[in-house]
Amino acid sequence: MEQTSMNSNNNILEVSGLKQYFAVKTGFMKTRDLKAVDDVSFNIEKGETLGLVGESGCGKTTVGRSIIRLYDPTAGEVSFDGEPMTEKNVTQMRRNMQMVFQDPYSSLNPRMTVEEIVAEPLVIHNLYNNRKERKEKVLELLALVGLNPEHATRYAHEFSGGQRQRIGIARALAVDPAFIVCDESVSALDVSIQAQILNTFKRLQRQLDLSYLFIAHDILVITYMSDRVAVMYLGKIVELAETKEINKNPTHPYTESLYSAVPIPDPITARESERIMLKGDVPSPLNLPSGCSFRTRCAYATEHCAAQTPPLTDRGGGHFVACWNR
Ligand SMILES: Nc1ncnc2c1ncn2[C@@H]1O[C@H](COP(=O)(O)OP(=O)(O)OP(=O)(O)O)[C@@H](O)[C@H]1O
Ligand SMILES: [Mg+2]
Repeated sequence: MEQTSMNSNNNILEVSGLKQYFAVKTGFMKTRDLKAVDDVSFNIEKGETLGLVGESGCGKTTVGRSIIRLYDPTAGEVSFDGEPMTEKNVTQMRRNMQMVFQDPYSSLNPRMTVEEIVAEPLVIHNLYNNRKERKEKVLELLALVGLNPEHATRYAHEFSGGQRQRIGIARALAVDPAFIVCDESVSALDVSIQAQILNTFKRLQRQLDLSYLFIAHDILVITYMSDRVAVMYLGKIVELAETKEINKNPTHPYTESLYSAVPIPDPITARESERIMLKGDVPSPLNLPSGCSFRTRCAYATEHCAAQTPPLTDRGGGHFVACWNR
């Protein structure tokens, strides 16, 4: 077999100790670090979808943006196909990592035709410089995502939400990436349209051998799409496991409460569950509790939880949990 990469393991992406702190003004000449992402590590295998779930503000988007270097990470390392990303190779590597955004209404320039939108990354990366070849590539991409050649000359605002998201996907695929961050890519769409777009993502994954980091707050969407799921709470991963395993056996008290609210449509995992309501509000990320950030809302918290942050440890078979009591 032809050697196509230096990577000896099967990971397309390795994230290790990723931190993203934002300096936030808190008063006159005063700033504080907002720890949006605080020491996050995970891998994504080739062809795999890792789901990233958690409530609003827990740092999901920031993880995605830091990985593809829309932000310069405060700390940590990201390797793509076995090669660490550095300032030197970031431009070349970014070609292999694309992002599909949440809002198909605001992420596409209304003054550009579909052809211009989809071709823009090709222009930026100096690919297909011959106009005819570029047009052919655009038409090929439109067909790939389920749009017609006639759509090429129309403007983004003429399309429905689902079709716009297809344009966004075609644009992301233009440079032949191996890895895509899908950030709430169906959240803005009607449920019936959501299913079509999710299935398109799945088909494209098989066809093009793509790997996804699939960010969503909707557990049903995450369950449908993901091979494994990572649950975030206030900048940290608190649980990570195979999708089936986490549905059947949510272990961190936060995951337990998150999953208790959802009827998982799978007879094997269906369980009589009562909705677990958490006490209190999410603490401000500018003023995190000591030790485990979840302890202020946790029914099982002890003094130890306030003193020390629980590490994310493997409880067997790749089911990772960060909790002292579970
Ligand atoms: N550029 C920024 N400057 C300062 N703070 C930021 C910035 N971007 C995000 N934050 C803060 O970092 C935290 C994580 O935000 P992030 O957008 O990553 O969360 P999220 O999980 O994607 O939320 P949502 O589900 O609402 O999209 C939040 O407290 C947010 O206010
Ligand atoms: Mg977000």
